[in-house]
Amino acid sequence: MNKKKPKILITEPIPETVIKHLREFGDVTVGEKGLFQSEENLLEEIEKFDALLCMLSVPVSESVLKKGTNLKVVANFAVGYDNIDITAAHSLGIKVANTPDVLTEACGDYAMGLLLALSRKLKEAEKYLRNGNFDGWEPLGFLGMELRDRNLGIIGMGRIGQAFANRAKAFGMNILYHNRSRLDLNTESRLDAKYIKDPIKLAEQSDVLSLNCPLTESTFHLVDTDFLKHMPEHALLINISRGAVIDEAALAEALHDNVIAGAALDVFEKEPGVHPRLLSAPNTMLLPHIASATHRTREDIGMLAAEAIISVLNGKDDNEIPNLITP
Ligand code: GLV
Repeated sequence: MNKKKPKILITEPIPETVIKHLREFGDVTVGEKGLFQSEENLLEEIEKFDALLCMLSVPVSESVLKKGTNLKVVANFAVGYDNIDITAAHSLGIKVANTPDVLTEACGDYAMGLLLALSRKLKEAEKYLRNGNFDGWEPLGFLGMELRDRNLGIIGMGRIGQAFANRAKAFGMNILYHNRSRLDLNTESRLDAKYIKDPIKLAEQSDVLSLNCPLTESTFHLVDTDFLKHMPEHALLINISRGAVIDEAALAEALHDNVIAGAALDVFEKEPGVHPRLLSAPNTMLLPHIASATHRTREDIGMLAAEAIISVLNGKDDNEIPNLITP
């Protein structure tokens, strides 16, 4: 007898190799770009599927999970999973997976790239040249912050925070960090990183502050008006975590008022929307959430998510699926 193939929804196009891999196992539907960013669209379709491979922009709410009466597994095409109601999923017996490790190095490279571009004013300098303003070498043009001996404060010293720390160390920076729990002493000494318990104290000592933490109740709007006031005036802020870790209105005002010297933001509170005052803020780089965007990494992310789906649907033991999020 022919066993019915499981139905899998991939919410939008991902690397073809991953889709092909899943097609060998199940009956795969691939949504149009952006279609399932709407909860309403997802609610309409979800009942048909045994598995969901979704983007971080897809709101997998309690209502969606309840409507998904056939759903056994949700695999997020991302390491951050604040778009999924994990408590509801677990109480409904639906497994949830994310994609740690495979994107760590791409994100570490990207954070370093943002820091170099921001500290050396590359965006403004290129615009200056393209606008026809370059009329000869200047001793005082576009002077930036040299990284050597500066303090990099990292909030969220998980895999990505550590990948950034390693790179910044090679540029001669001192590493300070805050994390939910302090790293063990061996890791601290390998990274040559100093733990600062109070995030405000970390803000005060950071020439560059980088957000690499997950979005949770305790990190929501962690960077607000008061926090920004504690940062040095010359400080730069980098965010490749989640937009809502920053109060965007407060940051926009701080940048306009020169409370801090600049920011590079890859993520926003209401993506794809960007706070209008950020668009006009000085020394600010705004990027469309691309920290993990390399060919290799996006394929690895897809394969890891796909494997979690296949493993769950094949009835594999939870502890043999390393990227399942445990209740
Ligand atoms: C990207 O933001 C991710 O969480 O993987």
